[in-house]
Amino acid sequence: MSINQIMVIGAGQMGSGIAQVCAMAGYGVILHDIKDEFVQKGIGNIQKNLNRQVEKGRMEESEKETILSRLTTSVSLENASKADLVIEAVVENMDVKTQLFKMLDQYAPDHTILASNTSSLPITEIAAVTERPEKVIGMHFMNPVPVMKLVEIIRGLQTSDDVYETIEAVSKKLQKVPVEVNDFPGFISNRILMPMINEAIFAVYEGVATPEAVDEIMKLGMNHPMGPLTLADFIGLDTCLYIMETLHEGFGDDKYRPCPLLRKYVKAGWLGKKTGKGFYTYA
Ligand code: CAA
Ligand code: NAD
Repeated sequence: MSINQIMVIGAGQMGSGIAQVCAMAGYGVILHDIKDEFVQKGIGNIQKNLNRQVEKGRMEESEKETILSRLTTSVSLENASKADLVIEAVVENMDVKTQLFKMLDQYAPDHTILASNTSSLPITEIAAVTERPEKVIGMHFMNPVPVMKLVEIIRGLQTSDDVYETIEAVSKKLQKVPVEVNDFPGFISNRILMPMINEAIFAVYEGVATPEAVDEIMKLGMNHPMGPLTLADFIGLDTCLYIMETLHEGFGDDKYRPCPLLRKYVKAGWLGKKTGKGFYTYA
């Protein structure tokens, strides 16, 4: 299957990063969100990242302009009619994603692959709302997308080999390392990462240590680049909570119970770095 034009749905921290690496790899990219101001914010992030590359002497100004010229913007899902591959990166909510996939299935041509960047939700369930479950797949990028090498590729129950191979090839063209997993809650990355983050939150909740102490221990003691609470703020506390809820519901085991402190922060609108407040405060 030949992929030339990629549509990225959701221009938040993940969608803008995905659009950036796709444009850098030479693909035409349509960046879509519900409001133009959200799309422009995403384009602004890409410009900032590329400007940094130019300032550091790693990219010519002309190359930056060529990359930016590959990006177009969208607030109409009908633009899916122009895409060979759609990568969805909207909020981690099954209802929102299934609504979206139903509409994408109507607007996208028959050959178009519909991929989701979901962190934890079942690909098989998302695929089931479309008439093309064999062309639905998980393409799970890591944050920050331009820096992190992994793409976790999730095969839904009916994902075809052809579609898997195409997504594997696209991931390699994006200079990423694809790793294949089957469709179970949280896949591998978040099945292992999120319980650690949740446990770190429990440790703070139970008064065992301050957020600073927890993070220092995991950074200096385990050589993690970021402590778990800094990482949770970076990912987004809403996203962390939704992933824990998916694990808890999917496996039914108490070990995945989201910490009440995480729920409280999300209810307060403390979503981490993106809202300026989480376990830490951001300027
Ligand atoms: N966007 C683009 N580039 C970024 C960036 C961002 N948000 N943040 C940092 N970078 C770049 C910097 O520009 C810098 O690039 P150069 O070396 O080319 O100049 C490079 O990353 C290193 O940055 P810094 O020196 O400022 O900081 P650092 O050495 O502490 O690295 C980090 C930053 C790469 C984010 C590092 O702290 C790290 O690896 N953290 C852990 C990230 C992680 O675990 N991600 C996975 C989250 S889980 C997930 O994504 C799955 C899910 O479903 C929730
Ligand atoms: P975000 O909040 O930064 O961005 C989400 C964007 O989606 C927003 O711009 C929002 O306006 C847009 N959106 C919401 N509903 C939409 C709709 N119906 N149509 C079009 N756009 C819509 O979130 P994010 O951190 O970029 O996460 C997006 C997805 O990526 C989630 O599924 C998340 O689990 C997954 N993910 C997140 C991370 C992370 O570290 N944050 C890592 C890997 C995967």
